[in-house]
Amino acid sequence: MLTAEEVSQIEHEISLVPVRKAAGIEALKIVQQHRGWVSDESLKDTAAFLGVSAEELDSVATFYNLIFRQPVGRHVILLCDSISCWVMGYEKIREHLMQKLDIKYGQTTPDGRFTLLPNVCLGTCDCAPALMIGPDLYQNVTPEELDEILSRYN
Ligand code: FES
Repeated sequence: MLTAEEVSQIEHEISLVPVRKAAGIEALKIVQQHRGWVSDESLKDTAAFLGVSAEELDSVATFYNLIFRQPVGRHVILLCDSISCWVMGYEKIREHLMQKLDIKYGQTTPDGRFTLLPNVCLGTCDCAPALMIGPDLYQNVTPEELDEILSRYN
């Protein structure tokens, strides 16, 4: 069941678009913001509120890769693996992250702190390699500074 706060925020998004279902992505983002990820139950409740089927909303959710349909850690690391970052040495960043956190892509650290995911271009190719941790963008990342960056997140 959606909380009163979620309903209020989703209603606001609905007010900005011509039809309820056009607020689908924003509604899912709101639910995810509150719950960390979008479970089947949350998806069904959100779909019902928007007046669409769960299947229809799920197709939107799976198309949009920043909606998490499985539990994730408190902080999601999105590591760009597109061409500019690849050329500028993203592999060293990837290896450092995997070694330091002892996880592979798609996994979450046992303490629930980080989930590591590959991501397509983050739109900052001139400052490659780049990654995001939650809403924070890091550019020109070097393996040497990664430990300090990670230490900012509990
Ligand atoms: S290729 Fe990595 S930000 Fe564009």
